[in-house]
Amino acid sequence: MSLIPPGSTVGVLGGGQLGRMFAMAARRLGYRVHTLAPDHDTPTGQIADVEINASYEDLDAVRAFARAVDVVTFEFENVSADAVAEAEKHAIVRPNGRSLVIAQHRLNEKSFLAANGLPVAPFATVRCDADLAAAMKVVGCPSVLKTATSGYDGKGQIRIGNADDLSSAWEALGRREAVLEAFLDLACEISVIGARGVGGEWSHFGPIENAHARHILDVSVSPAAVPAATAATAVDITHRVMDALDFVGVLCIEFFITRDGRLLVNELAPRPHNSGHLTFDACRTSQFEQQLRAVCGLPLGSPDMLLPGAAMANLLGEIWDGGEPDWAAALALPDVKLHLYGKSSPRPGRKMGHLTVLAATPADARARVLEARRALSRAPSPI
Ligand SMILES: Nc1ncnc2c1ncn2[C@@H]1O[C@H](COP(=O)(O)OP(=O)(O)OP(=O)(O)O)[C@@H](O)[C@H]1O
Ligand SMILES: [Mg+2]
Repeated sequence: MSLIPPGSTVGVLGGGQLGRMFAMAARRLGYRVHTLAPDHDTPTGQIADVEINASYEDLDAVRAFARAVDVVTFEFENVSADAVAEAEKHAIVRPNGRSLVIAQHRLNEKSFLAANGLPVAPFATVRCDADLAAAMKVVGCPSVLKTATSGYDGKGQIRIGNADDLSSAWEALGRREAVLEAFLDLACEISVIGARGVGGEWSHFGPIENAHARHILDVSVSPAAVPAATAATAVDITHRVMDALDFVGVLCIEFFITRDGRLLVNELAPRPHNSGHLTFDACRTSQFEQQLRAVCGLPLGSPDMLLPGAAMANLLGEIWDGGEPDWAAALALPDVKLHLYGKSSPRPGRKMGHLTVLAATPADARARVLEARRALSRAPSPI
């Protein structure tokens, strides 16, 4: 019984914007949506039929949540293995717990990738003081020390320019399990978002090019301006990873491309990804609808783009620095689509929304989305 038809109830663990856009897609296809997250009035909860406020580690709440739905999926992957196991006892859970355990832990992730012969930056494990010197010997400088778990938007990582700084950096990260990784000279970053169904059928959106500002995704452009062979390799790696994990749902792989032309896997996200927000407007089927179709056992939709180029610019809390953004000025460009996530306090660095533009070329789309973002605010632009 793998088909979960429209009219059924989908449970989303997590309450952020990824769940919000997933819930919008699910509602459009006639599904009911329940969400569980620790906060009230979450971006997902505002769209869902039912919002449950509980810690992800509250196993009684997770059990009740799972019992009330037909399938559980995720918009937030840092849920404990115990909570996932509890959900799995009472509902179908997609993607599977093993995929989460690998993707939520940088060392598991890198070991999995290396064991599958996939390229990653040189790295070493740091668990105790004795590991520091050994890790530095393997990786050298410049490097970056990252906590093994719970990092996002560049949080939980410190760049190491000098071997003597490693010990104090580890101290600053709370002496938590960490990975020391070579800091690469990057030409660009790309991501590939794939969708894999219950029977192993597979689809992808093609490489998207990502520019970061202060370690937070700033602008994504599709398709990425990379050689065809690089694009094909990135797509193939994504397919191989999803097959190896027997993954059902949507997964994103972030890749580094170095100045000397190497393609390396940065990290996996076992869910829709910020770089795929543009698919909502730019593709026949969005990453969110694709996730819904995959986890409900429906055929995957066409990922084709509606125009040859698309771009997305994130709107962080800083956009509010000069007061309420001038929404009308951005929307005066009639090809601009505005998405806001229903968050009430625009803190610096907080993802509040995004803009999307489709155009005849990726470069035109990028220029246009940046123009729209500039129109929003007189505060200094993050790029
Ligand atoms: N080894 C590296 N060499 C060069 N740049 C790096 C390296 N590691 C990270 N970065 C830069 O920092 C950004 C964030 O790193 P990473 O993806 O590991 O962090 P994160 O906090 O998990 O981010 P998120 O989950 O938001 O993608 C990367 O996209 C890249 O721009
Ligand atoms: Mg990342």
